[in-house]
Amino acid sequence: MKPELDPVSGRSTTGHEWNGITELDTPVPKAVWFFLITTFLFSVGYWLFMPAWPLGTTYTKGLLGDDERANLTAAIKAATDERGAWTRIVAEREPVAIMADGDLMAKVRESGRTLFGNNCAMCHGREAVGGPGFPSLVRGTTLWGDTPEAFAETIRVGINSGHTDSRTSQMLAFGRDGILTRQQIDPLVAYVRGLAQQGSTTGKQLDEGRQLFAANCVACHGEGGEGNRSLGAPDLSDGTWLYGGDDASVLQSIWHGRQGHMPSWDGRLSAWERKLLAIYLVDLRGNPR
Ligand code: HEC
Ligand code: HEC
Repeated sequence: MKPELDPVSGRSTTGHEWNGITELDTPVPKAVWFFLITTFLFSVGYWLFMPAWPLGTTYTKGLLGDDERANLTAAIKAATDERGAWTRIVAEREPVAIMADGDLMAKVRESGRTLFGNNCAMCHGREAVGGPGFPSLVRGTTLWGDTPEAFAETIRVGINSGHTDSRTSQMLAFGRDGILTRQQIDPLVAYVRGLAQQGSTTGKQLDEGRQLFAANCVACHGEGGEGNRSLGAPDLSDGTWLYGGDDASVLQSIWHGRQGHMPSWDGRLSAWERKLLAIYLVDLRGNPR
């Protein structure tokens, strides 16, 4: 059929007609041809150079020899080598030397935060500030010392943990076990709170409390209530409390005693991980967030 010409544009039409409307026979735009041809050429190039066509049990490898699986293996090996290098340094160097090395400390902080988040944060809190029954590791006087060695040892053996070398922490149940009467414990509560400049104490109560404290408590908590790092006895004068510093909590501590439980991480974390956590904590105490 001979194509008819459109009277307005002068172009030929396809010859189709719907209710008097005819269709112009416009060629496919050049831009479309251009993109069709380029994408086709690109795919042919890609097939040639990159791994592309599956061939049953194998596939076309491509002229460039690029292999994502090999790339990944190489990347993992590089990362492990890098990690191996700096973790070996952490394992071997003295804590002071590690803490003096800024680049190394950046890695310690990063890994320490992850390790702490995964193993310790559920009890001590993400920022290590603790909560009732769980000591703050960043504020106040520590129970067992705040050197990297003391921290690492606590992490290794735990407290009342059942580990053969476990640290043992025993606050006696003075009331429940009948060592002291309620009449004696009340002035003690007031005196202990007074040591931390909390609560109000009358002169008579203060004297009574001081005498009772000297007779029953100084062996573990020290003359001024400053605690004892070799017994895990807390500092009662620093204003930070493991179990709370209000009347009821202090009474509870003296009446029922306290035996906190910190798990041992021997066998659960490697020696270098425990050392890294200890250094992380010392660093965190120096720069609390
Ligand atoms: C199940 C809860 C729990 C978990 C998990 C836990 N802790 Fe503890 N941690 C405690 C308690 C409770 C104490 C205090 C024990 C006491 O009353 O004497 C403590 C004490 C400590 C102390 C001694 C603090 C001081 O003042 O001397 C350090 C250090 C410590 N934890 C570090 C860690 C680290 C690091 C981790 C993670 C590897 C961790 N803890 C995981 C409960 C926990
Ligand atoms: C045998 C050693 C020992 C003696 C004696 C002792 N304490 Fe303790 N006391 C501890 C230990 C250890 C803890 C910590 C327990 C824990 O961490 O679970 C503690 C904890 C406490 C606490 C809780 C502190 C806090 O931060 O919440 C108070 C209060 C306290 N003692 C008061 C006393 C008073 C008062 C006496 C004397 C009547 C006394 N203690 C005698 C070892 C002792």
